[in-house]
Amino acid sequence: MKRVINGLKVQQISFILLGLVCAMMLVLTWKRTTFLTSFIPAQSHVLELHRDEADMMDISGGKNSSEQNENKYESVGSNGTDWATAERGNSENTTSPNKENIPRAFLRTGAEEHSVENNKSKEKRKLGAPVNSAIEEPSVQSVQTGYIQEATDKKVHTKKGCNYAKGNWIFDDSRPLYSGYDCQQWLSPMWSCRLTQRKDFDYEKLRWQPKDCDMIQFTASKFLKRMQDKTLAFVGDSLGRQQFQSLMCMVTGGKETSDVADVGHEYGLVKALGSSRPDGWAYRFPSTNTTILYYWSASLCDLEPINVTNPTTDFAMHLDRPPAFLCRYLHRFDVLVLNTGHHWNRGKLKANRWIMYVGGVPNTDRKIANIGGAKHFAVHSIVKWVNAQLPKFPGLKAFFRTVSPRHFFNGDWNTGGTCDNTTPLSSGMEVLQDESSDPLISGAVNGTRVKLLDITALSQLRDEGHISRYSIKATPGVQDCLHWCLPGVPDTWNEILFAQI
Ligand SMILES: *[C@@H]1O[C@H](CO)[C@@H](O)[C@H](O)[C@H]1NC(C)=O
Ligand SMILES: *[C@@H]1O[C@H](CO)[C@@H](O)[C@H](O)[C@H]1NC(C)=O
Ligand SMILES: *[C@@H]1O[C@H](CO)[C@@H](O)[C@H](O)[C@H]1NC(C)=O
Ligand SMILES: *[C@@H]1O[C@H](CO)[C@@H](O)[C@H](O)[C@H]1NC(C)=O
Ligand SMILES: *[C@@H]1O[C@H](CO)[C@@H](O)[C@H](O)[C@H]1NC(C)=O
Ligand SMILES: *[C@@H]1O[C@H](CO)[C@@H](O)[C@H](O)[C@H]1NC(C)=O
Ligand SMILES: *[C@@H]1O[C@H](CO)[C@@H](O)[C@H](O)[C@H]1NC(C)=O
Repeated sequence: MKRVINGLKVQQISFILLGLVCAMMLVLTWKRTTFLTSFIPAQSHVLELHRDEADMMDISGGKNSSEQNENKYESVGSNGTDWATAERGNSENTTSPNKENIPRAFLRTGAEEHSVENNKSKEKRKLGAPVNSAIEEPSVQSVQTGYIQEATDKKVHTKKGCNYAKGNWIFDDSRPLYSGYDCQQWLSPMWSCRLTQRKDFDYEKLRWQPKDCDMIQFTASKFLKRMQDKTLAFVGDSLGRQQFQSLMCMVTGGKETSDVADVGHEYGLVKALGSSRPDGWAYRFPSTNTTILYYWSASLCDLEPINVTNPTTDFAMHLDRPPAFLCRYLHRFDVLVLNTGHHWNRGKLKANRWIMYVGGVPNTDRKIANIGGAKHFAVHSIVKWVNAQLPKFPGLKAFFRTVSPRHFFNGDWNTGGTCDNTTPLSSGMEVLQDESSDPLISGAVNGTRVKLLDITALSQLRDEGHISRYSIKATPGVQDCLHWCLPGVPDTWNEILFAQI
């Protein structure tokens, strides 16, 4: 027992080890308690509904959503028609809460991982990247986005076919990427949870770490540089609008800017007389001539009034025709991000007065008449169309974002369903599966050059990140377990998007 290693007795080494272990335990316990005590128990507020402008939640029921969990909230449509209001009370009545059909991710027992993973210096060492060697314009970036530039960027030239959807959530004190208080220029107040009664903000402190690839660190300057003279377009429903607002905040760092130009008129995105808002928005960053836009097309179908002289006309919802906006402007886009999902239910179709058309005439195919069939047909149609356009526009990268999961527990939106959990990752922190949790979208893009922006399973782990019952002024009982607090989960969608453009 008198062995000596490097001049230290075994006994001394044991003491040192013991000391290290104790120190580690202390750190972990401390981390854990501060972490836990920062969750303030949910309180019941009497809320009153407030929606900014016409950005109402429209609530309707998808009675028989056999696909993904259909969502029930949506923004309104074109020309000031407040479809949302029309839909209220007009919805079908969901009797059985939607099942979470995504496998529960394997739950790691966490605190250790958090602190270890959190530790940037360890991460760097683990990845073996030389510190600071990969920084492009570090000071500007840190100032603009509040980031600490990590050396991991060097390794970012990711393996081909890296699956960004597989990985785990990590607590990261450098998050969020912008402040929910500051980014009022771009965030709808109803989605800016810092402006609501919500008191817990741990959901802002999570970062997605893909398993087999290092994701490039998003910074505003890198984004703008890459998008020099380019246009990124989001086309989809209100979740697409969330992603758009998130990106505007990420690119401005959440700071008020006066030099971003409103170029909506270039895309026909202007408020029509008598409407409360345009069909979308387009903004340009003059320093790099980068344009970011959003166009509202909840179904990704072309909509056409059946009787233009009738103010309450029905609309032909052409399941086999891309939205006119896309046909008209696709040639001007460099990155396109499509999404749809939450409007595919009877309540919404009825409330929006959408009549399914195929081949220019009302649909008679019974397989398509069923909502699931119509959605399948429309999604495959738009993917096929975009894919056929791609050879004409070699610079264009087209993505289809998978469905954003909803989290109504113990009921649905209209039967008292809630998403009150405030503890991040209580259902797991990892996605281990290779396949997408959105078989419809992933199946549609399979074999095409349209890329998958697969965010379903990773977002499924974030039930604490929704608006929940909070708003600036809200009506009792209104729960939004579909849209996300911003900053929040859609920021991650944009990071994954950025890694692929
Ligand atoms: C719901 O969907 C299932 C399977 O897609 C179908 O068998 C059933 O008839 C549908 N129910 C209603 C009420 O539409
Ligand atoms: C939009 O609404 C205005 C008045 O509310 C109407 O005159 C106009 O025709 C509408 N445009 C479309 C495209 O429906
Ligand atoms: C749902 O429908 C059932 C029967 O159709 C009705 O009794 C119930 O009140 C409805 N619930 C809501 C929230 O509309
Ligand atoms: C990170 O690790 C380094 C060295 O391993 C240590 O000095 C530092 O305290 C750690 N930081 C945190 C936040 O755990
Ligand atoms: C901005 O970019 C567009 C292409 O997206 C290009 O046509 C235009 O000339 C650029 N403008 C300037 C001022 O460079
Ligand atoms: C279109 O709507 C107007 C106004 O409601 C109505 O007078 C007219 O008959 C409608 N036309 C057709 C073809 O239904
Ligand atoms: C894509 O299609 C091929 C051939 O049809 C099939 O073998 C494969 O499983 C599909 N992949 C996905 C992810 O759906």
